[in-house]
Amino acid sequence: MYISNDELLEHISAKPFRLVSEAADELGVEAYVIGGYVRDIFLNRPSKDIDIVAVGSGIELAKRVAAKLGRRANLSVFKNFGTAQVKCGDLELEFVGARKESYSHDSRKPIVEDGTLEDDQNRRDFTINALALCLNKDRYGELVDPFGGLEDMDELTIRTPLDPDVTFSDDPLRMMRAVRFASQLGFFIDPDTFDAIIRNRERISIISKERIVDELNKIVLSPKPSLGFDLLDKSGLLPLIFPELCALKGVETKEGIGHKDNFAHTLMVLDRLSKTTDNLWLRWSAIFHDIGKPRSKRFDPRLGWTFHNHNFIGEKMIPEIFRKMKLPMNEKMKYVQKMVSLHMRPIALSDDEVTDSAIRRLLFDAGDDIEDLMLLCEADITSKNPEKVRRFLANFQLVRSKLADIEEKDRVRNFQPPIKGEEIMDLFNLQPSRPVGVLKEAIKNAILDGVIPNEREAAYHFLLEKAKGMGLQPVKSLEL
Ligand code: CTP
Repeated sequence: MYISNDELLEHISAKPFRLVSEAADELGVEAYVIGGYVRDIFLNRPSKDIDIVAVGSGIELAKRVAAKLGRRANLSVFKNFGTAQVKCGDLELEFVGARKESYSHDSRKPIVEDGTLEDDQNRRDFTINALALCLNKDRYGELVDPFGGLEDMDELTIRTPLDPDVTFSDDPLRMMRAVRFASQLGFFIDPDTFDAIIRNRERISIISKERIVDELNKIVLSPKPSLGFDLLDKSGLLPLIFPELCALKGVETKEGIGHKDNFAHTLMVLDRLSKTTDNLWLRWSAIFHDIGKPRSKRFDPRLGWTFHNHNFIGEKMIPEIFRKMKLPMNEKMKYVQKMVSLHMRPIALSDDEVTDSAIRRLLFDAGDDIEDLMLLCEADITSKNPEKVRRFLANFQLVRSKLADIEEKDRVRNFQPPIKGEEIMDLFNLQPSRPVGVLKEAIKNAILDGVIPNEREAAYHFLLEKAKGMGLQPVKSLEL
């Protein structure tokens, strides 16, 4: 993590930093950039959120900086929290006075007192997040690193500055943050720190579901998310925050036949998929794709282990899990449900003698999400047998080209019925009723099954025939 002094100074060369320096000297307070911004300089990750600690009043410092920036700056003061924010262009500076905090046992709300820089660094979560860069003129760019944060960064280590039992008990969300940073950055959690997570895991119950899911989303979006999920599992946090995923763990054997460990498989699918997409909800779909397996598991003496309908069972389990975990219950959830319910379909289609109608139906059901579904299905091939993997992936190429052919020919991807319900009602003088639905459905199926092309005239003739069979006569004709 070596960086030269010049490079370091470069990161605090923007005008707002210079003005904080001036303002702090005028007020006679020490000012430091601290936390994530400093960490990310050394990790070479660009960051726009800047935390400034003043040994004195953060609000007074912010006000003076804002005055110096003039109309370019936007100041917000949060008196109750003793913090203030200055926005200037795309930089966001958060100001706070150095604090000494102590926490009561059953709440995250600290009792706050003014403190020194050291007090402030002591109360932070990890050594790599406790680095401070001085902004006062005569010490500009001096790094204050009392806990060996730089060394931990070199050794890719997440470690608490104080006794980890104190740090985690002060704010149990930090247990999730430890796992998240490890997963995001590819770091290790120091063994003493990790043991403290195991000891304090139950305290996660005082943290809101929203904050937990924020961290989970960051784990899901990390380059290799299985790192984070493995740590959640090994620390005992996972059963507390996501028991349904834990239920996938384990292998049962009967009559000498075992099934695969679906937890390990799910994580492998998630990692494989993460190499091809940053789509958070597609990654969540991988996490949920086999969630219905424990409930559908049966042992059949002839077939061995079966998981019939696990995709539909999974689809049905999702709303309750999303509600509990405070994941969004909107179109994002519907998308995950769709992916989970359809995830077996392309595999079933990778046979040579697959019919056009099966392909059309898949296109119809997946719509614009067909490409995402194909990515998920490809990631789902985790067999250890390379020959099998090769065959499956080759067959998927076949499915893709069939999908492209059929879509070009029949345009069913965003299917719009060539004859609308209102037109059917008009034509046969019907009120909204069951026969209207039956006729609409019959046209759709005829197109998907390739009985008629996806065209208005063909649909019209088909409709007249079908209606005749139901004893319906048209009262007018349809414009084509
Ligand atoms: N912090 C802490 N305990 C927490 C949250 C934050 O000690 N539960 C401290 C850390 O020093 C952290 C800083 O506050 O670096 C800023 O927190 P935040 O903005 O939440 O995170 P970052 O570390 O900046 O990381 P990221 O932007 O990736 O969330």
